[in-house]
Formats: sequence, C-alpha cells, structure tokens
Amino acid sequence: MAKNFDFLGRDVVSIRDFKRDQLEHVFESVDALEKKPKSLDAGLQGKMVALLFFEPSTRTYSSFQIAAENLGLKVSGFSNVAASSVSKGETLYDTIKMFEGYETDCFVIRHSMMGSARFAAEATDVPVINAGDGSREHPTQAMVDLYSIRRDFGKLDGLKIGVLGDLKYGRTASSLAYALSNYDVEICFIAPDALQIRPEVELFLNQRGTRFSRETSLATVANTLDVLYVTRIQKERIPDPTEYERVRGLYQVNLETLREAKPSLKVFHPLPRVDELASEIDGTEFARYFNQAAVGLPLRMALLNMVIGGAD
Ligand code: NCD
Repeated sequence: MAKNFDFLGRDVVSIRDFKRDQLEHVFESVDALEKKPKSLDAGLQGKMVALLFFEPSTRTYSSFQIAAENLGLKVSGFSNVAASSVSKGETLYDTIKMFEGYETDCFVIRHSMMGSARFAAEATDVPVINAGDGSREHPTQAMVDLYSIRRDFGKLDGLKIGVLGDLKYGRTASSLAYALSNYDVEICFIAPDALQIRPEVELFLNQRGTRFSRETSLATVANTLDVLYVTRIQKERIPDPTEYERVRGLYQVNLETLREAKPSLKVFHPLPRVDELASEIDGTEFARYFNQAAVGLPLRMALLNMVIGGAD
C-alpha cells in the first residue's frame, strides 16, 4: 500500500488546517471506499483507537466506533463520562496519558471545553481527531457535510449555501464555513441577531476572500439558495436560561417556509434536530440529512485509514 504522508500520524484538530486538495483527497478516498466497500484491507489489525467522549454523542461516537471496527481496529475509551474516572475528577491530560500508556494509535476526543482538542494534541504525540470541542469546531462533521453536498451536486463551486440556526454556539456551522472557504461558494448566514456567526469566523472568511452575507430571516433568501444547512439551538451552551427562552422557537424550516425555495434545494442538518426542522420535510426531495448522517461511516473509515495507516 502506498503511504500518504500528508495524513499519516496527523492531528485533525481544526478544519482550517486542511486545504482544498487535501479535502479532495479525503473525498476521493471515500468515493473509492463507497465503490468497493469490501475491498479494503487496511492492514490496521491490532492497532487501537481510543474514543474519549466527555460529551453526549450518537452519530459521531457510533460512526467512529463502527468505522474503527470495520478497519479491524481495537476500540477503547468511553462515551459515558459518569461511568469513567472523569466523574471522580480525572483531568483530560491524565486521561490522555493513561491511554497513551495502553499504546493507543489514535485519539478521538469530544469535550465541552473550547480548545480541548488542541490541548490534547499538544499533550501527546499520538494523532488526535477532534470530534467536537465546545462551540468551536467539529472538523470531521465538516468533511461529512462537504462530501454530502458535493455528492448531491457533483461540485461545491458555484453553490449558494444558507446556514441557518444557532451559528454562535454551534460548532458545525463554524467548521462548515471554514471548510467552504476553500471553494468558490457564497454563504448566507441566517440567524436571529443573538445567534449570528461569531466574529472570528467572519474575520477568517474575509481573509480568505469568501463571499458571505448575514440575514435574520429565511424568507428573504429562501428562493436563492441551492443548499440549506439547518442547525439546532445549542441549549446546553447558552449560558443564561432566559436567553434560551428568548431565542427558542424563533425559526423553523417546514413546507411553508420552503414554499418559495428552488425545487432543487437540498436541506442538510448535522442532527440531532429538535423543533427547527419539521418532520414533514423528511418525505420530500429536499431532505438529505439522513443520507448525510450515513456518510459519517465511510468518511470516518477513510480518515482513520489515512491517519493511522497512511493509506492513499
Ligand atoms: C452536532 C454536534 O455535536 O456538534 N452533532 C453531530 O455531531 N452530528 C450537532 C449538534 O449537537 O447540534
């Protein structure tokens, strides 16, 4: 197997660290896997990945777990903090050092603290994959999102992409915006003022010369979009419960709000959804979110294969 040293042993902490050709390389590797899923002999038998999930997760944890098992990796770690020594006060640093001692070959870490993945990557020479650090980033979700959009449209360049919801506390929205800055797209951030995209993301997009605008209502732009990426309000990250009460229910995507949309519009959502995306959309041609979630598996297989095995 040819080794791809671009990814071998590499940390995946921020999607900002990945340029267009590297993202394309990941996507091509997923394409290859999707075409011939059984052909993969990753040569990773006996290696180990530690999944350290300090925050709840359904899709990210289980897709990493299944991906690792499909590659023949041993899986260790925890998804239930209450049942681990973290509940006794063990620190992230000590937890990493522990699993380093057990000779893990890769860490996948989700933690509520912004910057925790970077902190972890500095604490160990073993590659660290960020599975979500507070409201900051979720790089593998951004890869899933881009891959899904690219698969549906056959391209990313030229698309107008609306990103709706809690853009302030949601990490998927910021990672998606960073990733899209590698392409010739137009982004429209749609959110109530209190939940608009963070200044650091705007600054980054300005530096990259990415075209973007801000809107408070979907209605004004719905008919111009190719893609609508919906996110839930991150209740657990809003520091003040009265602030949450003020913003909850401020937006919902349903058939009525999509009345003016292009028939070719595709709706994505990183999931879980709460009440911001009506289930009446599920049976329509707009809905792509369950297909998007399914991409999590081959994409994380491809990525683990590249990071641990150096696969091309
Ligand atoms: C997201 C997350 O954890 O940031 N979920 C996911 O990984 N697909 C989105 C969310 O929790 O709203």
